[in-house]
Amino acid sequence: MRVPAPAPAPTTAPARPRTLLVGFAGQQGREYLPVLRTCADIAGGVDSAPGAGDIARTLGFPHFGSVAEAVARVRFDTAVVTVPHHAHFAVCEELLRHGKHVIKEKPFAVTEAQAHRLAALARRSDRSVYTLLQRNFDPVFGFARRHLERLGEPYWFSYDYHLNLPRPTSGWRARPDTALGGVLLDMGYHLIDVLAGMFPPPARVDAVFTYRYPEMRDHRLEDLVSLLYGYSAPSLAGSLRISRHHYEKTERLSVLGTRGTLTLEPGEATLTPARSAGPLRFVRRGTKGDTVRTMLASYLRRLEDRAFREAHLARQLATVRTIDGVYRHR
Ligand SMILES: NC(=O)c1ccc[n+]([C@@H]2O[C@H](COP(=O)([O-])OP(=O)(O)OC[C@H]3O[C@@H](n4cnc5c(N)ncnc54)[C@H](O)[C@@H]3O)[C@@H](O)[C@H]2O)c1
Repeated sequence: MRVPAPAPAPTTAPARPRTLLVGFAGQQGREYLPVLRTCADIAGGVDSAPGAGDIARTLGFPHFGSVAEAVARVRFDTAVVTVPHHAHFAVCEELLRHGKHVIKEKPFAVTEAQAHRLAALARRSDRSVYTLLQRNFDPVFGFARRHLERLGEPYWFSYDYHLNLPRPTSGWRARPDTALGGVLLDMGYHLIDVLAGMFPPPARVDAVFTYRYPEMRDHRLEDLVSLLYGYSAPSLAGSLRISRHHYEKTERLSVLGTRGTLTLEPGEATLTPARSAGPLRFVRRGTKGDTVRTMLASYLRRLEDRAFREAHLARQLATVRTIDGVYRHR
């Protein structure tokens, strides 16, 4: 397929980039729209759902049946992509080939090979591909990054993330050809990415997959996964447990170090030095919506920041490599 060469990259991002929404009629697309409107101009939306045209009319922007149609009919700099996992790569590839920046939902990619192809395409077209990962913009995780050194040598971490969904998984997440993975890829992507930002790449990851519902077992889409991380430094190890059907919704990360302990839970973090007066506690003041606003605004501001772009690609390659490695060795 012959595609026009992308226009030369401007040196600074426009103050309010003209933005296309791909997958806007779904859960995440709808969640991001009001926040996006505070920092971008909405050029239109692409969504293949039957009622998407009516939704777009109500929301006040033009609807297109495909990215190709949007490219032909409307001017935009950036696209926010919130489609099911199987559709990510083709949509992002098409946008990049047309010289558009991409801000996309996780996963950055499903396989390591695909992640390399996407990164190469981003570099060749001199455009950004940023992955929407709220924890990297959550002040609680910022507190953890700032204080990690105060733990001395970390020797253990333990990370639990559970939802308490009462029914079997449905929709595209329940089909192997559209989900392309179970909770490890879906919920676990966030956690693996957090760990990629805190610790060196693991030397090995052992996994146990298990299932709450027989239909998920039939499709090999795990409802629960337990991971054990080992590092080349034998003094560090850690474990994760991720599930959709727990008895309570919970997220908790603990890091133990030679000089103290760090614990993170939604909205708060505590650093407890081994020898000192008492713990240092951080409580997030803003809402989850504030974190989403910070994330979207900072990606939009850094569309032309090549150093930030490269750091993001390196981190996402590391995250995808870990997940793909676990699935390949299951
Ligand atoms: N960051 C988070 O906390 C979080 C939470 C939920 C979902 N997500 C991610 O968001 C993405 C979407 O998940 P969701 O729960 O919103 O799904 P969803 O099913 O609610 O929405 C997906 C939308 O994409 C549309 N779509 C499908 N294929 C398309 C295509 N080729 N072109 C255009 N539109 C298409 C569908 O019609 C639907 O409206 C996934 O990558 C998921 O992992 C992230």
